[in-house]
Amino acid sequence: MLVSARSFAEYRAMFALDDRDLEQRILDCPAGAAGFVAEAGRRGIDAVAADRQYAEHREELGLLVERETVFKRERLVKETAGYVWSWYADADDMIRRWTANARAFGADIAARPERYVAGSLPELPFADDSFDLVLSSHLLFSYGNRLDEDFHRAALLELARVARREVRIFPLVVYDTGARYEGLAVLREELARLGVPSRVERVAYEFQPGADEMLVLSTAGHRAPAPTAPGRTAPGRTAPGTAGAVDPVRWRHREPGA
Ligand SMILES: C[S@@+](CC[C@H](N)C(=O)[O-])C[C@H]1O[C@@H](n2cnc3c(N)ncnc32)[C@H](O)[C@@H]1O
Repeated sequence: MLVSARSFAEYRAMFALDDRDLEQRILDCPAGAAGFVAEAGRRGIDAVAADRQYAEHREELGLLVERETVFKRERLVKETAGYVWSWYADADDMIRRWTANARAFGADIAARPERYVAGSLPELPFADDSFDLVLSSHLLFSYGNRLDEDFHRAALLELARVARREVRIFPLVVYDTGARYEGLAVLREELARLGVPSRVERVAYEFQPGADEMLVLSTAGHRAPAPTAPGRTAPGRTAPGTAGAVDPVRWRHREPGA
């Protein structure tokens, strides 16, 4: 898994955000080195970023992502035919924009550190209903061949717990295969039984072919399952330190021979 650096404009498109959405208190999780919160701050929008990586490479993350784009470019050029080039003109345009986003992220995390919270799904350090709207891109479903269904269930419930109104997740396809995440229908049924109805919506953004849909969880009125006895976890949640505990981020530019 890479840490990526998508832009505010990409977030608007991926999550079909309208002006009313942007008046709300928003959580971006996992935010990586995306420029969404930085640009949101500049526009007076109340947004917070959370990512497990902020516990470790916090100050140098923007720079690390800039270095990684060199590797990303090589792969993009090799695999140009495998992407939809309507958002970016070409690989160089994408790298240029990601570099700018990573820099904006780096400047903002230094200037407004309180807006960037270290947090690891499926347990986030926020109270219930801390945000109106929660955005989550390119982790759940995207890495569905590495993160199991228990992790997905627990992570979705955790995002729902901290969202007063809605959670939006993009995309719904697995990064390596391009196929829709297999367990999606079952997870949606389970969430509905736990009081979190959902719908799938098409959005005006597609880079990976077929990745042009988001999942919207309606969380208004949902109450998180009560914690069970100490040492046990509530239904639908994963014990801390189990699923997703291994750091999945790979810094290719730091690997020997890279
Ligand atoms: C591909 S990036 C996506 C970043 C951003 N949403 C974007 O679209 O540019 C995936 C991010 O997930 C973070 N991550 C991986 N596992 C996580 C977990 N269990 N909890 C929180 N963040 C996690 C990684 O550190 C990485 O920054």
